[in-house]
Amino acid sequence: MKSKSSKRIGIFGFGCVGQGLHDVLQDNPHLSVARICVRDKEKLRTLPSHSFTYNPQELLQDDSIDLFAELISDPKEALLIVRQALKAGKTIVSANKKMVSENLQELLALQQEFGGTLLYEAAVCGSIPILRTLEAYYGTEPLQEVSGILNGSSNYILSKLDSEGISYAEALAEAQALGFAEADPTLDVCGYDALHKISLIAAHAFGAVIKPEQVLRAGIQHIRKQDIALAQALGARIRLVASARLNKNNMLELQVLPTLVFPDSELYYVEAEFNGVQLQARYAGDQFLKGRGAGSHPTGSAVWADVSAALAGYKYSYPKFKYDADENLRPVPLEEEDVLKVYLRTTNPNLLPEVPWLELTTFGEDPHVGQLVGAIRRKDLLLYLPALKQTMAFIAQLPASVSAEQVVNASNIVLEEVA
Ligand SMILES: NC(=O)c1ccc[n+]([C@@H]2O[C@H](COP(=O)([O-])OP(=O)(O)OC[C@H]3O[C@@H](n4cnc5c(N)ncnc54)[C@H](OP(=O)(O)O)[C@@H]3O)[C@@H](O)[C@H]2O)c1
Repeated sequence: MKSKSSKRIGIFGFGCVGQGLHDVLQDNPHLSVARICVRDKEKLRTLPSHSFTYNPQELLQDDSIDLFAELISDPKEALLIVRQALKAGKTIVSANKKMVSENLQELLALQQEFGGTLLYEAAVCGSIPILRTLEAYYGTEPLQEVSGILNGSSNYILSKLDSEGISYAEALAEAQALGFAEADPTLDVCGYDALHKISLIAAHAFGAVIKPEQVLRAGIQHIRKQDIALAQALGARIRLVASARLNKNNMLELQVLPTLVFPDSELYYVEAEFNGVQLQARYAGDQFLKGRGAGSHPTGSAVWADVSAALAGYKYSYPKFKYDADENLRPVPLEEEDVLKVYLRTTNPNLLPEVPWLELTTFGEDPHVGQLVGAIRRKDLLLYLPALKQTMAFIAQLPASVSAEQVVNASNIVLEEVA
């Protein structure tokens, strides 16, 4: 690797994102790659062997390196790397949403104590510059809501179900074959990936550092053709929507839920592996960002943007954080009493009567399938969701404007079409 300038970067990981970063850096005359740390000595590489090291310390302890990019797939090792870099007061850019979101408080404290810098735009919606937008543009303006489609794999699957009428298993297999879903898709299809991303968004948009278990989360893994058909009969699409909303009591409503979206929503038009994020600001009104949420070059581009910003001295300011008199971060209260309207289908209806529904309409003809539209308090859904998931239930949020009667009518249309 020839030296192109005085600035040198050490890269951890040479997979999808690491290679993407390496490619886009070829367009940057001011940065040279020192070395790349990987794990597998046997793997065939597209670069000569002297480009690589298998020992992270060879990068971390090299004082000639100006900054690091952490792009590995192992969150535990990634945390060790980022921790060590920050303890040395260094600058490091990461794409690892799980690692950053689960350790944000510690990573913030390390930056404060040792003066290092951590940026992680690529971790949230790949190429969409959502964190920098929240920091730089909406740092002072109060935000009411940030929500969107933050996971490309599940959106790809849902789009296929919608447009081709194939089964969930077929759509997942196709997404895996095309590299849009991991061999183990749990993080994506069960909503964990979107949860990690909305947690990071909540920190920058609302000043909230939250624990994953505080967030209502359901995924798309139990979706069936009849759920898609029902949504279509209503004129809607099902999308996995993550949202953070500050309500009129200044409490945060946080969730990752399959949701019925209608043509009046920008999210209705987010197809395949794309991501879309909508913002609602008090004075600016509504805004919408759409782009590639994953992939080698789109994610590499976001890492490059962070690397350039970091070299220019940029740090996140977390403008919405509020502190008490002892300079402790003041938590943002989370709403638990609000009521959600949901559609639910389960092949084990026995549990349903135990759930404390505020309103309930059941429908369907099959005695082995429970289908309902219900209204339920967020805290009750948080409590019962783990048990409902064990019954293979598929749950989706309905807009308040959709009545139970409309859903029942749509279900009848689906039944007539099948018959
Ligand atoms: N793929 C995307 O589109 C995307 C988008 C946004 C964010 N991200 C995030 O970016 C990160 C990297 O994802 P990826 O898709 O590039 O993963 P990947 O294609 O599986 O590549 C992972 C890389 O990490 C290296 N690695 C794994 N464990 C390591 C360890 N203990 N020490 C050193 N190197 C190690 C692997 O080394 P070997 O080459 O030796 O196997 C490989 O080069 C993840 O945190 C992911 O969540 C990915």
